[in-house]
Amino acid sequence: MSLKNLIDTNKLPQHIAVIMDGNGRWAKEQGKNRIFGHSNGVKSVREVSEACAELGVKYLTLYAFSTENWNRPKLEVVALMELLVQTIRKETRTLMDNNIRLKAIGNIETLPSRCHKELLESIEITKNNSAMDLVLALSYSGRDEILQAVKAISKEVQAKQINADDLTEEDIQKHLFTNEIPDPELLIRTSGENRISNFLLWQMAYTEFYFTETYWPEFRKENLYEAILDYQKRERRFGKTSEQISTPS
Ligand code: FPP
Repeated sequence: MSLKNLIDTNKLPQHIAVIMDGNGRWAKEQGKNRIFGHSNGVKSVREVSEACAELGVKYLTLYAFSTENWNRPKLEVVALMELLVQTIRKETRTLMDNNIRLKAIGNIETLPSRCHKELLESIEITKNNSAMDLVLALSYSGRDEILQAVKAISKEVQAKQINADDLTEEDIQKHLFTNEIPDPELLIRTSGENRISNFLLWQMAYTEFYFTETYWPEFRKENLYEAILDYQKRERRFGKTSEQISTPS
């Protein structure tokens, strides 16, 4: 029996974020190069996107390339960018067929121009889709995102458009890449690493973390269901007591 049947669809996380990790180690175990690992990681991207859309998850954010990833060997960076171009080109039709809107967060203008262009095209083509948002974090850094927000707000304060004492958390939220996206309720990280690696730092204040040993290229729908079931067993208290949650005032 599939674990899918055990999921309570009334208690689905509406936003799931994923740190797709372990492509390189998985490939090494197969006696292959790292790029082979990334190519196989694309299969997992398809599986997880499809499973989320089928379940009714509204937002799926994938950490596809961090700012720090620019420091990888040049050949690997080029291959990853090429994989991205090919995948977006190939899968835009699938996104349309499944009513999925593509979005991107991060400093996407730093991507190679072909990649940037392909991405913007697919975002434009899918912009009126409404079943699920598939958000790719590309050249993304959580600290840099917060820094950019601080700079923008500082300019508004300087121009006397806003008073520093009146600033709220919403003002910060408004300046983040995720401006129109609710915070994730669930973060999944694969491959046995237990870190958040500069991902959605502001947005994950109350997110439930799920870490699994499974390498990303081996992650399949059943692994996703397992993560969601684990999440559904937890009690989200947001700083309140258990009693307050069961009998809200
Ligand atoms: C981490 O594994 C993975 C990445 C840095 C890249 C993720 C990219 C993909 C799955 C392919 C493209 C994605 C899309 C959305 C089309 P790692 O290389 O850090 O693995 P390791 O820790 O075992 O070395």
